[in-house]
Amino acid sequence: LWNANNIIEDSLIQIRQLVGKEAVLLALSGGVDSSVVAALLHRAIGEQLTCIFVDNGLLRLNEADQVMATFAQHLGVRVIKVDAQARFLSALAGVADPEEKRKIIGRLFIDIFEEQARQLNAIQWLAQGTIYPDVIESAGAKSGKAHVIKSHHNVGGLPERMQLKLIEPLRELFKDEVRQLGLTLGLPAEMVFRHPFPGPGLGVRILGEVREEYADILRRADAIFIEELHQSGWYSKVSQAFAVFLPVRSVGVMGDARRYDYVVALRAVETIDFMTARWAHLPYELLERVSNRIINEVNGISRVGYDISSKPPATIEWE
Ligand code: XMP
Repeated sequence: LWNANNIIEDSLIQIRQLVGKEAVLLALSGGVDSSVVAALLHRAIGEQLTCIFVDNGLLRLNEADQVMATFAQHLGVRVIKVDAQARFLSALAGVADPEEKRKIIGRLFIDIFEEQARQLNAIQWLAQGTIYPDVIESAGAKSGKAHVIKSHHNVGGLPERMQLKLIEPLRELFKDEVRQLGLTLGLPAEMVFRHPFPGPGLGVRILGEVREEYADILRRADAIFIEELHQSGWYSKVSQAFAVFLPVRSVGVMGDARRYDYVVALRAVETIDFMTARWAHLPYELLERVSNRIINEVNGISRVGYDISSKPPATIEWE
């Protein structure tokens, strides 16, 4: 019988048998899968687990603080937080091409992760939040079935390069099972039911060149959208929702003053598998409230659009 408690009990035994007294390293992103792995491994082996969390400057508003609060303060997991905002921003300076940005972000993440790992001694294991659909997807990719429209980064290839043994405790589980496990392990519901967030983060939601100023504006607009989705009960009805920064300027008026500021687009989609998606038919009143709040509260934005493109032909992300 499938039951989160049974799965956890079995996993704890297996993990302890496999790992023994050895040390395990995990790249914690704050997403559902790596978070559940962190909580599970922490319960199984406590201090033998070290997590590395990289703040790349492309995270959502307060995201780094929330991850640290949940894992380091609340659960007592050993988490090394790496403040790498400046490194990512300077590596991305002048780069506008989406795939180029993805490569830079992915590579830099691996470099930083390896640097950190080298400073720790005697790590034998690398833990990853691979879940069953990832296993199937990469099998498809090997047989040539999957076409790469966008390169999706995880830390694939790292275990061999770093000569570490790989532990993937969620490898046989589906997403909804992973969520149940997370709740049972005491992770907050906001974390467990969070929409997926791409590895390159705001790096692919700021069109063209990434700048700190754009990221700051986008974070605030995105936070308002997400807050209003929660308030109205729509967050859980859509599969993914976010704001996109468009580096074009548009004229507006505020009081007596003329504004000439940037534009954000809102995107919300409904999908089962993220391979096809329908744009969410959010109520006009909700869109109106979000738009008013963004224009009034976020300096630097003068206009808000709503993306009514479905996938295909449009992708979910704008880049
Ligand atoms: P697209 O834009 O391809 O997105 O329709 C489908 C799903 O994949 C996510 N996505 C990414 N995830 N690295 C990731 O880890 C990436 O480079 C990336 N690009 C898109 C997207 O957020 C959506 O859930």
